[in-house]
Amino acid sequence: MAEPNFAPGLEGVAATHSSISNIDGAAGLLSYRGFAIADLVAHSSFEEVALLLLDGVLPSAADLGEFDRGLRAHRQVKYNVREIMKFMPVTGHPMDMLHCAVASLGMFYPQQELSDAERENTPHLDAMAMRIIARMPTIVAMWEQMRFGNDPIPPRPDLSHAANFLYMISGREPDPALAKILDSCLILHAEHTINASTFSVLVTGSTLTNPYHVIGGAIGTLAGPLHGGANQKVVEMLEEIGSVQRVGAYLDERMANKGKIWGFGHRIYKTRDPRAAILKEMMENLASHGHLRHSRLFEIAIEVERQATERLGPKGIHANVDFYSGVLYHEMGIKADLFTPIFAMARSAGWLAHWREQLADNRIFRPTQVYTGEQGQGYIPVVQRS
Ligand code: COA
Repeated sequence: MAEPNFAPGLEGVAATHSSISNIDGAAGLLSYRGFAIADLVAHSSFEEVALLLLDGVLPSAADLGEFDRGLRAHRQVKYNVREIMKFMPVTGHPMDMLHCAVASLGMFYPQQELSDAERENTPHLDAMAMRIIARMPTIVAMWEQMRFGNDPIPPRPDLSHAANFLYMISGREPDPALAKILDSCLILHAEHTINASTFSVLVTGSTLTNPYHVIGGAIGTLAGPLHGGANQKVVEMLEEIGSVQRVGAYLDERMANKGKIWGFGHRIYKTRDPRAAILKEMMENLASHGHLRHSRLFEIAIEVERQATERLGPKGIHANVDFYSGVLYHEMGIKADLFTPIFAMARSAGWLAHWREQLADNRIFRPTQVYTGEQGQGYIPVVQRS
């Protein structure tokens, strides 16, 4: 029998047809539903982009208004979820908490699997998707209060998705310029074709399980340092470097030991990730208008990008979205272990768009393998084994 094709990491293998987003890795371009990411950041909001990803078209004012009202109305999570969270160790990583809390929402959902009728009921799926997008920021912010012994701050329906999150984690109404930056970051992180966590959405969704398992699995996949967890690693790396003067020596030593430079490299982009460029420009604009401080960490980041690009650029390895998003959140005063949960809050929109797309033309994922083990072994009773 012919051996099946094997592509480590499934590099170059198409896992699905999709009309949600597109990357031109050679040119460094990203679009959602055909709209350039820079245009969406300049003119849109996270709420509108989420609906664009889910529905495929820029919404009418009426449709956007209805979706936005739905998000605002469903920010509260059940009191029982808070009770579950109370028993989680406060030293745990917020991504682990988010994974558990989102999966636990499924216990309040009456059925464990999607019936045929539910699968074909678009408004029902839309409502489930909207509620998950609405609740994830509340869960992250509740934990941010609870882990320091405070009561969660209830969401405010008069604030936008981004502003409300900043309000819930700080207790203060945010500077509108900072709410706008977070909104832009949520747009930039909302979707990115078939990366590891989105692929997990396709696999889990293809079994027709409920969307809480689908999103819980995606959160777990995003948490790893090779994926969304890299934004926290970037800031830890910059802290470890400590000064602009130490950048060169640090990079040399790390590369000599075959260590990764966090926030660099991408399977698809062979040039600079367009999201990194937008984030860096945003930081510079905000700092020049006095909304952000330019910390030592930002100066180190600029120097790391310059010197790492000199060393790795010729191999097609450049800064990716995680390089500057962590630095930007740090400049906004957000704790490092919240960076990846914020990524997950944003990516929930893309994940759920892919979940919907998968269900619309579903076939369960069941790849094969190249078997490398023994064949036809004779069983030896335990007492006779040496
Ligand atoms: N620093 C140093 N070298 C890197 C690198 C990095 N950040 N990213 C890739 N490389 C090197 C690898 O060591 C490898 O070198 P080799 O051919 O000499 O062995 C080569 O580039 C290919 O890298 P590989 O890890 O096989 O690419 P991949 O497509 O499987 O992985 C990433 C892509 C994103 C996982 C990888 O670039 C990485 O680990 N980056 C750091 C983590 C990160 O920032 N993740 C967020 C992605 S948005």
